Amino acid sequence: MTWRRRSPRSVTVTVCPDGPLLVRGADEVVDEAGVAHEVRRPCVALCRCGRSSLAPWCDGTHKVVTEEAAKRNW
Ligand code: FES
Repeated sequence: MTWRRRSPRSVTVTVCPDGPLLVRGADEVVDEAGVAHEVRRPCVALCRCGRSSLAPWCDGTHKVVTEEAAKRNW
């Protein structure tokens, strides 16, 4: 996945532990299929768990995935 900025401002990416990537300052996100998704907010969350129904955006499903994995480890 890549992200683009049309203006010279910087893009920052923050990794959330067991959660999404927070991307600030991007104008566009391109997924692995090459589909460009316009970014309309200053900060967006990109799914890292592969379970989101709103891919490439995070829909919070990673919380369920993380909780299920924690239960299996008990
Ligand atoms: S990281 Fe949040 S749904 Fe995948």
